Amino acid sequence: MSAAANQRDARSTKTVERELAEAKRGYSLRNPASFERWQAAACAMPGGNTRTVLFFEPFPICMVRGEGCLLFDADGHRYVDLLGEYTAGIYGHSNPVIRRAIAAALDNGISLSAHNHLELGLARLICDRFTSIELVRFTNSGTEANLMAIATAIAATGRRRVLVFQGSYHGGVLAFGTGPSRTTVPHDFIVAPYNDTDGVRELIRRDGAALAAILVEPMLGAGGCVPGEPAFLEMLAEEARAAGAMLVFDEIQTSRLSPGGRQELLGISPDLTTLGKYFGGGLSFGAFGGRANLMSLYDPRRPDHLAHAGTFNNNVLSMAAGYAGLSQLLSPDALQSLNRRGDALRTALNEQFAESACGLSVSGLGSLMNFHAINGIPSERDVLLLLFFDLLERGFYCSPRGLIALSLAVGDPELAEFRSVIGDILRARRSAYTFDH
Ligand SMILES: Cc1ncc(COP(=O)(O)O)c(C=O)c1O
Repeated sequence: MSAAANQRDARSTKTVERELAEAKRGYSLRNPASFERWQAAACAMPGGNTRTVLFFEPFPICMVRGEGCLLFDADGHRYVDLLGEYTAGIYGHSNPVIRRAIAAALDNGISLSAHNHLELGLARLICDRFTSIELVRFTNSGTEANLMAIATAIAATGRRRVLVFQGSYHGGVLAFGTGPSRTTVPHDFIVAPYNDTDGVRELIRRDGAALAAILVEPMLGAGGCVPGEPAFLEMLAEEARAAGAMLVFDEIQTSRLSPGGRQELLGISPDLTTLGKYFGGGLSFGAFGGRANLMSLYDPRRPDHLAHAGTFNNNVLSMAAGYAGLSQLLSPDALQSLNRRGDALRTALNEQFAESACGLSVSGLGSLMNFHAINGIPSERDVLLLLFFDLLERGFYCSPRGLIALSLAVGDPELAEFRSVIGDILRARRSAYTFDH
């Protein structure tokens, strides 16, 4: 890099740092009740936190209520919720259909200690929507679903190695940056570059005989809404088949991109698929499913069956809420229209960013998107955090790393206001958001 470019980088980093410090001060002044609750929580939880992603400096916001597309914090501010519980909140807050289903389930007892009358409905809807899922089992979270998919592949193939991708996130104990994180379960992982079609093909052809599974998000979610290129994902399917390895699509986020997930859009049929998030109607949920001959390894009538336990796997609240959501709210039309609105928003935002010649962009597919600072400037994290605080101040809630996951409850008026607020922010902080690119 030239000396002039270095100087420009240093200048823009300093501007962002200064404006971010100012934005944090403003946030602290406006949110004393959130601060107090976080301080009190630190007596009982490390750093006052029980879900790492929700923490940010100087202290995390405390939400006390949600209604429709709105969230309300402990200091009485109102926000349009563009985060949608990191994709799990597709129905918005307190949708009456979901509430009624939960209330009806409650009326019949919470813990039935047996197979129950609600699990079949949700299982059938999932198998109907995903042609690759002939049989399905429920878990309590997406993390668990992925752990079970890996366990299934290892048991089915008798092999141990699992190919995963840089920047992918498959759960709290299945996170990969450039390699496994310190809390990632100690499987025999190889971590390859995402979307490197030729390099990964070569790797699989070389090491494929040892591979139990290829576990992949069809679009990196936590990794910044980076869509997998169709050629890359098709190559994985072909090479997995040739190597006798199980292809596992983690569709915990991308399942919402069409009624049958991104796999339907691409015409790819993975051996196993994992689901989670909104499929439980906003309650704890996970599922793994796939080819009947693989999933029937769990058929308890078989003398050699695999065990898969979980006290709350079939909990009546998630089963009822998930079924009500899929059968009454998330019709194929509703889902497609949500994704069209997301596509339109992303296009409009990118046009807005280009017109104002700022250094921001937004990536993603359908109703899922993530802000980026283009050209990989050194302070991208800070730029996104600054945008987060700026949006918060103006009544819009996304994630500190810039994720937006639209819910059915967010309407056109809110999206129009959001674009107008983005325009205001770009004008108000021109120097912070405009760096050389
Ligand atoms: C793609 C993906 N896989 C797995 C998970 C883990 O799901 P859960 O948080 O329900 O364990 C997530 C959660 O963010 C995810 O985005």
